[in-house]
Amino acid sequence: MNYKSLKFPEDTLFLVTGGAGFIGSNLCEAILDMGYRVRCLDDLSTGKISNVEPFSDNGRYQFIKGDIKDLDTCMKACEGVDYVLNQAAWGSVPRSIEMPLFYCANNIQGAVNMLEAARQNGVKTFVYASSSSVYGDEPNLPKTEGREGNLLSPYALTKRADEEWAKQYAIHYGLKTIGLRYFNVFGRRQDPYGAYAAVIPKFIKQLISGETPVINGDGKQSRDFTYIENVIEANLKACLAPDEASGEAFNIACGGREYLIDIYYMLTGALGLSVEPVFGPERKGDIKHSNADIGKARRLLGYDPEWDFERGINAAIDWYKENL
Ligand SMILES: NC(=O)c1ccc[n+]([C@@H]2O[C@H](COP(=O)([O-])OP(=O)(O)OC[C@H]3O[C@@H](n4cnc5c(N)ncnc54)[C@H](O)[C@@H]3O)[C@@H](O)[C@H]2O)c1
Repeated sequence: MNYKSLKFPEDTLFLVTGGAGFIGSNLCEAILDMGYRVRCLDDLSTGKISNVEPFSDNGRYQFIKGDIKDLDTCMKACEGVDYVLNQAAWGSVPRSIEMPLFYCANNIQGAVNMLEAARQNGVKTFVYASSSSVYGDEPNLPKTEGREGNLLSPYALTKRADEEWAKQYAIHYGLKTIGLRYFNVFGRRQDPYGAYAAVIPKFIKQLISGETPVINGDGKQSRDFTYIENVIEANLKACLAPDEASGEAFNIACGGREYLIDIYYMLTGALGLSVEPVFGPERKGDIKHSNADIGKARRLLGYDPEWDFERGINAAIDWYKENL
């Protein structure tokens, strides 16, 4: 079932933390389109106000500029909230290796503050962004929940710690928590700029502006790239998950496997270019292959991704052509 047909009570209020970021702003937009109320909490540290400005005239939308490292801010943001979609965090494996203390404070303490504020405010479900990076060096594919390896970065550690904290809140305080392990999400509004940009928007931007993208390693690494619409579906279905899903984390992916070099040629083809790639060194903390078993999310959340990679990448390219 498409997430747009999910039914919540008419005056339902969602809180999206990190709502001015890529995934968060898409969640805010989807919730408004479905007719519900949404409060966006963001400190604008990596997100942009321009991502959410188009919603500011909507009477069902509210923006709070604030930091989840501050418990009072989290408490105020959770007042009257039915569902929390906790997206606020800093991404990027290499940046986390450079700034471990900040990642600990922002991605772990911030998440625990949000869990505590959700608990004290009687939130119905606490859905939060985890990451495929929690699989670390586990070599077996597809990645399956319950079979994780050694963590390879401070970023991955923060997401693993968030999952453990969420489980404790489910066990001891009865807060319904659902962790979503996103696998390389892409789509409209993903930031193409800066040293830590994700590969798909970065390559599209570079190709459109006449630069030659650098592929880290040999390009034969593969990922389960997941279009943003599938992630919206997962978040909204997770809000209505059965009690047995509480305290658990779920792979949110497409279940496919795309090689970076193929994506490169797909992008140049779609943009009508014939630029040969340049190859650079492999990145520290990166894994070679990643694809997901999404059976657990199918069974317990009713997750059924409607957008395959090709449909998603074409939609993303069209969006960047118009919006860069
Ligand atoms: N994009 C992906 O492929 C991917 C993959 C796995 C996990 N995730 C996770 O999904 C979530 C959203 O990622 P995204 O790609 O949209 O990133 P993003 O950087 O676009 O969005 C994150 C948002 O959180 C905000 N934020 C960060 N720290 C904050 C704080 N202390 N207080 C308030 N706001 C804060 C930022 O300003 C930003 O708007 C993150 O938790 C990320 O770790 C993303």
